[in-house]
Amino acid sequence: MGDSVNTCLPFCRMYRSKRFRTLIVKLGALVLVVFYLGSYVFNFQSSGVKRDHEEQVRQEQTATEDVYHYSWPKCQQNLAVANMTGFNTFPRIFQTFMYYRHCRHFPMLLDVPDKCGGAGKSADVFLLLVVKSSPLNYDRREVLRKTWAMERQHNGLWIRRIFISGTTAEGHEKKRLNKLLLAENREYNDILQWDFTDSFYNLTLKQILFLEWMERSCPHVRFLLNGDDDVFAHTDNMVEYLQNRKGNDGRKHLFIGSVNIGMPPVRDNWSKYYVPVEIFAADSYQPYCSGGGFLLSGYTASVIYKMSQSITILPIDDVYMGMCLAKAGLNPESHIGVKPFGQDIPSKKLDAYHPCFYTEVLLVHRFLPAQLYLMWSRVNDPDLKCDSFNKIPARI
Ligand SMILES: *[C@@H]1O[C@H](CO)[C@@H](O)[C@H](O)[C@H]1NC(C)=O
Ligand SMILES: *[C@@H]1O[C@H](CO)[C@@H](O)[C@H](O)[C@H]1NC(C)=O
Ligand SMILES: *[C@@H]1O[C@H](CO)[C@@H](O)[C@H](O)[C@H]1NC(C)=O
Repeated sequence: MGDSVNTCLPFCRMYRSKRFRTLIVKLGALVLVVFYLGSYVFNFQSSGVKRDHEEQVRQEQTATEDVYHYSWPKCQQNLAVANMTGFNTFPRIFQTFMYYRHCRHFPMLLDVPDKCGGAGKSADVFLLLVVKSSPLNYDRREVLRKTWAMERQHNGLWIRRIFISGTTAEGHEKKRLNKLLLAENREYNDILQWDFTDSFYNLTLKQILFLEWMERSCPHVRFLLNGDDDVFAHTDNMVEYLQNRKGNDGRKHLFIGSVNIGMPPVRDNWSKYYVPVEIFAADSYQPYCSGGGFLLSGYTASVIYKMSQSITILPIDDVYMGMCLAKAGLNPESHIGVKPFGQDIPSKKLDAYHPCFYTEVLLVHRFLPAQLYLMWSRVNDPDLKCDSFNKIPARI
């Protein structure tokens, strides 16, 4: 100790002086500020570089392939599935399904990232209409855009529309159909398209890809109608129904349609719904809503997406949604206004397309484009009077 005092000559004395210590503290603070500013400027520059790089990649992509948004390597078939018991007895199409069952990522050919006004603003969308439509169904999309899927406000709440699609055909025909969708999307900004075969067995995949897109581009949307392009959806009624429910902010569980409980898997190998015992062993499915159309909250859509991450794909898309719900401990709910097998008409003598049978429904399957166009204009006719009409079976 004494030593250190002795050896501590002018420098120590300087250090002990109060003025000097204040100076050191000030210098230290200055160094910190410079360092902080420096790292800020550096980060700013490097993120600028990163942005430039991304921009360049994007430009290169758009230059070579007009509408490339997210690319994924081509998913390879899994030949090992051929080793499973029963594989040789599966119908050919089911074998194809099995080879590609593990594939969950496909290049996106068409995207509408601003559909909901950007992820942050997506809570402004009250009802997003999500319509499965294959590239060939141009006529159906055209009619939907003019009728129930028209983008508009109802009771001050926004209704938006998106079609979800894969690709069909091969070679030139595939290219032609992709061009059709590209042209449509340029005009309407309402198509999501991924580069996978748009087939019945790939509908579950399409559903999962949509949910993934929603998490990215439309995460706070309040409600969704998930449906086919051949249904009559009374979207004004849907908005009113959802608006009048308690907790209409979409942050609670809601999954509504025509519920099937205890449905056994189809075991006839000629049926399009055939599912071999080797793939699904139980003798009934979890409760699920018929796929023609159902309503769900943004919350439930997001839960289903999370559950889907760990559930192997089953080709029947509506059953698969039920499996995801069950895994989350949630139930689908029935609504009498959803009619997957057409409207019940009390007598064969009555006109099944009388608009008064449809003024209070939510959704009816199935309609041809021309019927849809006519029905939508008739139910919206301000002169339509249904008060004395016997519409008891149609009542919600
Ligand atoms: C199928 O099983 C056999 C025997 O276990 C194995 O040798 C073969 O590699 C398997 N095939 C594939 C494609 O995994
Ligand atoms: C259906 O099963 C029967 C009997 O197992 C078989 O003979 C037939 O080839 C199968 N059909 C298809 C389309 O796989
Ligand atoms: C599903 O799509 C993939 C990718 O295009 C395709 O390879 C596969 O054959 C399709 N599956 C069925 C059953 O159509």
